[in-house]
Amino acid sequence: MKALITAGGRGTRLRPITHTSNKHLIPIANKPMIHYALEAVLEAGIREIGIVISPETGHEIRAALGDGSAWNARFTYVLQNAPRGLADCVKVAEPFLGADPFVFYLGDNVIVGGIRHFVEQFQREGSNCHLVLARVKDPERFGVPEIVGGRIVAVEEKPTQPKSPYAVTGIYLYDRHIFEAVKAIRSGRRGEFEISDAHQFLLERGYRVGYSEITGWWKDTGKPEDLLEANRLVLDRILEEDGGRIAGTVDAASDVAGKVIVQKGATIVRSTIRGPAIIGVEAVVQDAYIGPFTAIGEGCEIRNSEVEYSIVLPRSRLLHVDVRIERSLLGREVTILRGETRPRTQKFIVGDQSVIELP
Ligand code: TTP
Repeated sequence: MKALITAGGRGTRLRPITHTSNKHLIPIANKPMIHYALEAVLEAGIREIGIVISPETGHEIRAALGDGSAWNARFTYVLQNAPRGLADCVKVAEPFLGADPFVFYLGDNVIVGGIRHFVEQFQREGSNCHLVLARVKDPERFGVPEIVGGRIVAVEEKPTQPKSPYAVTGIYLYDRHIFEAVKAIRSGRRGEFEISDAHQFLLERGYRVGYSEITGWWKDTGKPEDLLEANRLVLDRILEEDGGRIAGTVDAASDVAGKVIVQKGATIVRSTIRGPAIIGVEAVVQDAYIGPFTAIGEGCEIRNSEVEYSIVLPRSRLLHVDVRIERSLLGREVTILRGETRPRTQKFIVGDQSVIELP
């Protein structure tokens, strides 16, 4: 069994962060998003892992993940020349995958509970394809299966009238017949080769398509609010498991309540922290409030400011900001500060496609 994990694509919905960095390296609970996919695959006992990269940001992914030896695995980088869709990812990875069955895992999906049981069910049932489904409120945003008598009979991508309340998640299991499908289909409405069309092809040819339903939670972190939600869920879970850890320093005037991770070299001075939250390596939090579901990245400086339900990427600074920052995603080396000069106007130096919402 091999695995193929995606780390290419455009990441347009996460601009401006993705103007300067690959989306799969955006941290969730201070760990790059793609680590969650890798950990799930490794936990299922898979060691041969292909990673789909783009020409624009592939070098960044390679530099961050290496050859796999640090994970006791072997990583093979598969270059996709242009973001032509998920079915194209499978097509370009055929030389790496060969005739082995494999799990295809979208690197921006985060799930709890692992994938081992899906792999086992796929192997036990001997199907050609196994889809992992999740019940969602808005199936029209996803690939949606039609299920009749406990069998998937059709799959439609982003249907206007969904035929079930399920989304096909970004975790798929295939045998070699998938290559027949990804080569046969044409590009769809979005000009991309849709993986749902490949599934529909398999169904029409009479191949066996099994499924299971995700019991824990699953998140496709395509948009900023999905990232914040994934950050909340992951913080909740990791802190439930290990109850928090203070590896940095917290002075006597600070109040750290609930489950909190203070990473190595971080300093908390005269501040209130309400968990679940994580304060990154070498970060400084002084005269500040850090509220629940917040991840403060490595080397950040939070002084005389309040932040809650947010992700702050490494080396950003919040200095004397007199409004509480909430539901925010701040990139690397962002500075928000209260100015000293008169007149007291709002001054912005903001990158392309940034979003600022004023109270
Ligand atoms: P998507 O979320 O469908 O696309 P995207 O990441 O390009 O983002 P956006 O829609 O905001 O522009 O991608 C799902 C996963 O597949 C994600 O891990 C990126 C990856 N991907 C590729 O590697 N190659 C591709 O051609 C596409 C479309 C996605």
